[in-house]
Amino acid sequence: MDDFSWLRLLSVIVVLMLPSLSNGTKSSDVEECPIEIQPDSMVLEYQSGGHSAVCMPTTSESNVKEIYWEVHGDKFNNRSWSPDTHENWDPSPVCHGEFLGIGSCNKTLPYILYKPPDDVSITISNMSTKEGSKIELMCSIRNVAPADRLNVTWTWQRGNETVDPDSLGVSNEAKCPPSNKTSAVDVTCTMNITLNRTHNGIQARCEAELNLGPKGPQPPPTMSSNSFNLSVQYGPKINKTKLQKLFLVIRGYKGELVCEADGNPAPDIKWNYTSKTAFLESDETLIVNEEGLYVCTATNNISSDTHRVEVVLGEDYLPLLAGFVALTVVIISIIFIFIYSIYYKNTKMRRYSLKNPKLSSHNGNVAHNSWDIQLPVTKLS
Ligand SMILES: *[C@@H]1O[C@H](CO)[C@@H](O)[C@H](O)[C@H]1NC(C)=O
Ligand SMILES: *[C@@H]1O[C@H](CO)[C@@H](O)[C@H](O)[C@H]1NC(C)=O
Ligand SMILES: *[C@@H]1O[C@H](CO)[C@@H](O)[C@H](O)[C@H]1NC(C)=O
Ligand SMILES: *[C@@H]1O[C@H](CO)[C@@H](O)[C@H](O)[C@H]1NC(C)=O
Ligand SMILES: *[C@@H]1O[C@H](CO)[C@@H](O)[C@H](O)[C@H]1NC(C)=O
Ligand SMILES: *[C@@H]1O[C@H](CO)[C@@H](O)[C@H](O)[C@H]1NC(C)=O
Ligand SMILES: *[C@@H]1O[C@H](CO)[C@@H](O)[C@H](O)[C@H]1NC(C)=O
Ligand SMILES: *[C@@H]1O[C@H](CO)[C@@H](O)[C@H](O)[C@H]1NC(C)=O
Ligand SMILES: *[C@@H]1O[C@H](CO)[C@@H](O)[C@H](O)[C@H]1NC(C)=O
Ligand SMILES: *[C@@H]1O[C@H](CO)[C@@H](O)[C@H](O)[C@H]1NC(C)=O
Ligand SMILES: *[C@@H]1O[C@H](CO)[C@@H](O)[C@H](O)[C@H]1NC(C)=O
Ligand SMILES: *[C@@H]1O[C@H](CO)[C@@H](O)[C@H](O)[C@H]1NC(C)=O
Repeated sequence: MDDFSWLRLLSVIVVLMLPSLSNGTKSSDVEECPIEIQPDSMVLEYQSGGHSAVCMPTTSESNVKEIYWEVHGDKFNNRSWSPDTHENWDPSPVCHGEFLGIGSCNKTLPYILYKPPDDVSITISNMSTKEGSKIELMCSIRNVAPADRLNVTWTWQRGNETVDPDSLGVSNEAKCPPSNKTSAVDVTCTMNITLNRTHNGIQARCEAELNLGPKGPQPPPTMSSNSFNLSVQYGPKINKTKLQKLFLVIRGYKGELVCEADGNPAPDIKWNYTSKTAFLESDETLIVNEEGLYVCTATNNISSDTHRVEVVLGEDYLPLLAGFVALTVVIISIIFIFIYSIYYKNTKMRRYSLKNPKLSSHNGNVAHNSWDIQLPVTKLS
């Protein structure tokens, strides 16, 4: 088989190169059978009607001894052949010609009878949906032909967003069993998944496409399955970014401890503490105002997760700060009043000196421009 295809490839190369080598003379066509099939290939849908292929000589009719079709070993003494699209799954139709001089030769008509699937659906092999269990997703493609032209792909979505298969540890390519059957068969492609919590809520779909080549229908016949919801049961995990190990509460104030846990089924949250003043605002939220150890436990029927929070009391520095600010204001005020009182005394004396008619303008100027308070004082006394 391998040798045969190598020879064919070689002959194709020789046929392609010879015209350029021999400057256009058709010396290579000795092997070429002088018949032409119309159409040169057939891609037919199952149970469609009105198709036929005609085999005509490309040389003069006078050289033709006989032209006939051979289908599955049966000889049809006719240049025209009409396939039965109800059952001719793999007829490998061959047109034979017998010519004077050349002898017998033949040409095969590439022929595909296809059938889009009746149904594409997803089933699951293992009913266990616990995290860690291995499941096999199966894409069942019912009554399709030809199986070797199938291209089956998976798609993964969360809501209406496509999810990168790498982030789920899966792929888009479905593994389908090899098949050389040309008649309609049921095909089951699989995908193995080890379930983990990232798979919960993912919708899987598979799509079967019949790749029939450029002569086939465009776009290729495609059928999608229903989407299959992956539900994974997994033990709770408390969100530790939301709830630190150490929690500071200012003395006299309240603190809010929020214990949020992700799990499927949704976990029960329980707080355990000795404080008499703490109280639950909701199942998850604990209001605390005392120091101590507060333990949150999230439990579902898979497992549980525990997180310990140590609450410490911090002093409230706000009143202290306010007192300090007030004191500063008082001190500054006192200083200001002190300075002002001295200044006020000074201006009051100056006013007196201005009232003195004996004081000429040059003395007044001196008094204004100088801090020498002795001058008016001495003048007055
Ligand atoms: C060849 O086929 C055509 C159409 O199918 C038919 O009309 C014709 O009679 C056939 N000829 C012979 C010789 O069987
Ligand atoms: C077609 O011709 C080739 C040689 O060119 C021959 O080997 C082959 O057996 C023929 N096929 C049929 C179905 O007769
Ligand atoms: C399902 O998967 C679990 C975990 O891998 C395994 O123990 C169990 O045998 C599997 N059940 C079936 C029916 O395959
Ligand atoms: C199979 O289908 C996918 C998605 O439609 C496409 O990307 C891929 O090229 C196809 N593969 C073949 C061999 O046609
Ligand atoms: C789905 O897509 C539409 C538009 O693309 C968007 O408005 C909507 O919010 C999406 N829904 C979800 C559940 O993501
Ligand atoms: C789940 O599986 C994916 C892909 O294998 C991996 O990237 C992810 O870390 C896993 N998540 C958990 C929680 O194990
Ligand atoms: C199809 O494959 C089977 C085994 O996989 C083999 O025995 C059989 O000969 C093949 N048929 C054709 C027509 O290639
Ligand atoms: C999935 O697992 C089953 C059983 O473990 C195995 O037979 C099958 O080949 C696996 N399929 C793939 C696509 O790896
Ligand atoms: C799958 O999940 C979607 C959204 O989460 C929901 O609308 C749909 O009904 C579910 N389908 C099945 C078969 O459970
Ligand atoms: C934990 O809480 C933080 C802060 O609210 C949030 O950003 C993060 O998404 C949460 N993590 C999980 C796994 O829910
Ligand atoms: C709370 O914690 C105490 C001490 O660790 C323990 O004895 C008690 O059983 C716990 N209660 C609950 C309901 O978990
Ligand atoms: C956990 O509970 C859910 C429903 O609440 C149930 O479907 C599931 O089988 C339970 N899982 C186990 C391991 O018991």
